Amino acid sequence: MDDFERAKIIYDTYGATSYEDLAPTDPGYDVYADAIRSGCRHKAGGARVLDLGCGTGRWFHCLENIRFLVGVDASRPMLAIAKDRLRRADQKSNGQCFPYALIEADIRSISFAPEGFDFIYSTGVLGEYVKLDDYMLKSILMWLSKGGIAFLTIVDRYYYKLNSYPYISMRNRFLKLLIRDFFENFSIATSSFSRLFSSNILRRIVSLHDYSNIYMTEHDITTLLTRISYQSRSNIYSFHDRKHLHLGILLTKY
Ligand SMILES: C[S@@+](CC[C@H](N)C(=O)[O-])C[C@H]1O[C@@H](n2cnc3c(N)ncnc32)[C@H](O)[C@@H]1O
Repeated sequence: MDDFERAKIIYDTYGATSYEDLAPTDPGYDVYADAIRSGCRHKAGGARVLDLGCGTGRWFHCLENIRFLVGVDASRPMLAIAKDRLRRADQKSNGQCFPYALIEADIRSISFAPEGFDFIYSTGVLGEYVKLDDYMLKSILMWLSKGGIAFLTIVDRYYYKLNSYPYISMRNRFLKLLIRDFFENFSIATSSFSRLFSSNILRRIVSLHDYSNIYMTEHDITTLLTRISYQSRSNIYSFHDRKHLHLGILLTKY
């Protein structure tokens, strides 16, 4: 089972039931709102926006000055909530909501025309469920127009290691090994596997999987940016929520 299938298991169950209620709302998240608002505003005449791993569309309320929006996510139930959110916004504005498309797909395998977006953002996905590697970053920069902006969040690996590992009990370590063994040895279709467990239990089982190989340090990110040597300017900063320290990357392509 790969990272994509694992994310689907978590969000097809958890997303459909409790993501909207449990999604964190710490003040640290104001950073997201500010970055998304200014990412949209920079483009005169309206921005073409791509939300990678849009989930339930938790940040759609920050979108302004939009020509159109494309949201991509692995999970159909998460997208159903996002669609409902946009439908309600459209009703509220008497049909004045911007055009949009919500696509169920893996952000690692989807492709778009070069320079098709003026603002691309991804919160809680890259460096958390999907590795931000050369391929992913080059794709984002390729899809971005000249002068376009990207805002990406990543979980800080140092912080995760320092703060979480000492507290993982022996029991959890043992459970992790069992679960990893289970996933790696049985190729069970996501849907039939999901039906065996309640959504809460399933979420807890899958979240015991160790995603920390996907998390990054600021050094990893600057090395990656230097290595791909795309024409871009970047700014990396960190901010907290109640669970992780996140690194925010603001990229401008030129
Ligand atoms: C923590 S949620 C974040 C959702 C939203 N961006 C937000 O900030 O509320 C992670 C989302 O990433 C999606 N996801 C994880 N891996 C994915 C992949 N490979 N392709 C597309 N979506 C993915 C999940 O389905 C889930 O909706």
